[in-house]
Amino acid sequence: LVVVLDFGGQYKELIARRVRECAVASVIKPGNTPLEEIKAMDPIGIILTGGPDSVYCDDAPRCDPALFKLGIPVLGICYGLQLVVYSLGGEVRPCNVSEYGRTKVTVDPSSPIFRGLDKSQIGLMSHTDQVSALPAGFASIASTSNCPHAAIADVERRIYGTQFHPEVENTPNGTQVIRNFLYEVCGAKSDYDIHDYETRMINEIREQVGGEHVILGLSGGVDSSVCAALLAKAIPGQLHCIFVDHGLMRKDEGDEVEAAFSGRDLHFIRVNAEERFLKLLKGVDDPEKKRKIIGSEFVRVFEDEAKKLGKIRFLAQGTIYPDVIESGVNSAVIKSHHNVGGLPKDMQFTDLVEPLRGLFKDEVRALGRQLGLPKALVERQPFPGPGLAVRVIGEITKDKLDLLREADAIFRQEMKRSRVKADQYFAVLTDTRSVGVMGDFRTHGWTVALRAVKTTDFMTCQVVPISHSMLNRTATRIVNEVKGISRVVYDITGKPPATIEWE
Ligand code: XMP
Repeated sequence: LVVVLDFGGQYKELIARRVRECAVASVIKPGNTPLEEIKAMDPIGIILTGGPDSVYCDDAPRCDPALFKLGIPVLGICYGLQLVVYSLGGEVRPCNVSEYGRTKVTVDPSSPIFRGLDKSQIGLMSHTDQVSALPAGFASIASTSNCPHAAIADVERRIYGTQFHPEVENTPNGTQVIRNFLYEVCGAKSDYDIHDYETRMINEIREQVGGEHVILGLSGGVDSSVCAALLAKAIPGQLHCIFVDHGLMRKDEGDEVEAAFSGRDLHFIRVNAEERFLKLLKGVDDPEKKRKIIGSEFVRVFEDEAKKLGKIRFLAQGTIYPDVIESGVNSAVIKSHHNVGGLPKDMQFTDLVEPLRGLFKDEVRALGRQLGLPKALVERQPFPGPGLAVRVIGEITKDKLDLLREADAIFRQEMKRSRVKADQYFAVLTDTRSVGVMGDFRTHGWTVALRAVKTTDFMTCQVVPISHSMLNRTATRIVNEVKGISRVVYDITGKPPATIEWE
């Protein structure tokens, strides 16, 4: 186990994640955690995070200086390095020239933490203070043109520090530096995998919840599904999952979600609210209005069901680490539920259960696979909370939704069959009807648009260059098999200037 001591840096979860990637378990604790508590965890190493403060200021966060006498290897990162220096009698001062961004770093490859690396490296720098005098016993093991002590080491005491951030992608060999610290300095044995995370979370959930009951809003998305499977394992019989089927799901999706949870030890409540939603959406063609209606109705349905279960104080959510960043670090805000508006603050719940809070998406998927969730669910592409409501352009009717469901299912089948890789792909039912001819008959059916994009952050995207033959096959099938659709087009606009969804 490695303890990550937090001094307010924005990357603490990323550090913990890198340690896990190196197959070593990690926990994050506040920087001022008492030594006794740290010792009791028996860590093989301690990593001190960065932070926004200046270590020489009176109110700067610090650790107990005796930490450095425990004989446990330490790696200080950015502020963490400065804290090492300050605590052991060296000197930290404001930089003459602050460094921000990717910076050339010359490292000493004979140092254990740089083993296997070339002399010339790139490191992400972000600092306004730097080390001006090293404490006794330390040597400089890296430098930049403005920072003579870009990394330091006391090999004897096994205390290291880097001014740059090895945990971020902008330091291309950063993970190797962390791996070296773990394996070359701390003597780690690769003994962590997602299974250990599961075991630890199960214990934590049991400790938090005891014998009480928990409510979870299940959307069928990856995060809430993995959260449900984990909770069902941790507290069998105490979990109530409310799955609001708003009638805006893709073909067979509601049944698939229900089937995935049928053998598990939880109370699965499927609320068939299609009629309720469609009634409210009747005649509405403005996208934002649609979203608002769906969001608030969703909350109402959820509340109605939750009330029926009596007084339950625990609300579980599949919040994952990127959500935590987006909603402001450490804020206990209730996540935009199912991504369709937030749950009201005055609900009966007083306690949140968020076991996936420390995980990144790929780790959540790995955990889901381990918990035996079906592949289709674990690898599901993102699906907007308002569902097909924003993929039927203009007014929504059940007939239009059904047409879209069929066309979308064909497109998904063809994508799977031809193994085209895309991060998100779907069909849109436009509000344009066009003239067609089938046999000897004139038709006047709807136009369907297909969209397939590649993206990592969904803030921007590129269109997937699908082959003409594949598009042709899909279009032919859609027009032949879905009565009411007479034309198919492929959307070739990136984001920006377009958005991924049409509405
Ligand atoms: P846009 O269309 O803005 O979409 O490029 C970016 C990503 O967000 C998804 N999306 C939504 N997700 N509620 C959601 O939960 C929404 O109202 C919503 N609108 C768009 C979209 O599918 C894409 O992944």
